[in-house]
Amino acid sequence: MSKVLLITGASKGIGLATAKRFSNAGYTVVNLSRSPCAIDGASNLAVDLTDVSWVADFSVQILAAVGEPEQLVVVHNAAMMTKETVRDIEAQTLRNVLELNVVAASRLNTLLLPRMEHGSSIIYISSTLGTKAVANTHAYVVSKHAVIGQMRATCQDLAGSMIHTAAICPGFTETEMLSAHLGANPDVYDQITATIAHRRLAQPSEIADTIWFASQSPVINGAVIDANLGQIET
Ligand SMILES: NC(=O)c1ccc[n+]([C@@H]2O[C@H](COP(=O)([O-])OP(=O)(O)OC[C@H]3O[C@@H](n4cnc5c(N)ncnc54)[C@H](OP(=O)(O)O)[C@@H]3O)[C@@H](O)[C@H]2O)c1
Repeated sequence: MSKVLLITGASKGIGLATAKRFSNAGYTVVNLSRSPCAIDGASNLAVDLTDVSWVADFSVQILAAVGEPEQLVVVHNAAMMTKETVRDIEAQTLRNVLELNVVAASRLNTLLLPRMEHGSSIIYISSTLGTKAVANTHAYVVSKHAVIGQMRATCQDLAGSMIHTAAICPGFTETEMLSAHLGANPDVYDQITATIAHRRLAQPSEIADTIWFASQSPVINGAVIDANLGQIET
């Protein structure tokens, strides 16, 4: 059976680990990000998903790279995190974050659904911050809540299509996004791991395994899945 993974943001972090997981399982990987995914055989399209012209510029190439597989898994993974509050957020910051974290997934769904046969799946990457909020990441929290609504609406809209969907909500995961957000202070890491039942950060490969499970499991259609090593409840 011809199987394709179309993923955004597989140049590093969770996306790269996911591309490896699917490649090892025999999938052809098509990656959309500004820098390439370093996996043998991956097709890379250098797309900046915050640039609204990407649909017009890249649709033909994306469809050519995807082909007409018997199963297509789409993983909406690329995202950005900015630092601001409700007091000082700029409208353009919110627009940029929503463009990448939410609107790009919608545009890709519209493009790719005609190529999705029975047994295909759409996996959204949300966050712990898709169901709760913290201060100082206003746009990100808004966008990750939106992703969960987007997934639930996708499930309803695709009823009867035999295409399933789920949202994965990673907790603190050891990637560049996290280190850029937290900085280098080891005390910050100690404070964070104290809030995690397993007392460590998740590895990208653990999130990739969760994405793999969701993509292959129609029974969890419409589900929001936490992947966070257990959060200490306060
Ligand atoms: N790490 C965590 O603790 C954590 C926790 C909860 C949820 N998540 C979620 O998990 C997903 C992956 O995060 P990560 O930690 O692996 O992040 P990461 O290491 O920063 O990787 C982000 C990926 O997104 C791509 N990307 C960023 N801006 C882009 C743009 N404008 N156009 C196209 N691609 C773009 C990057 O590729 P280029 O730079 O090459 O474009 C990169 O491949 C995200 O949805 C994130 O919100 C992460």
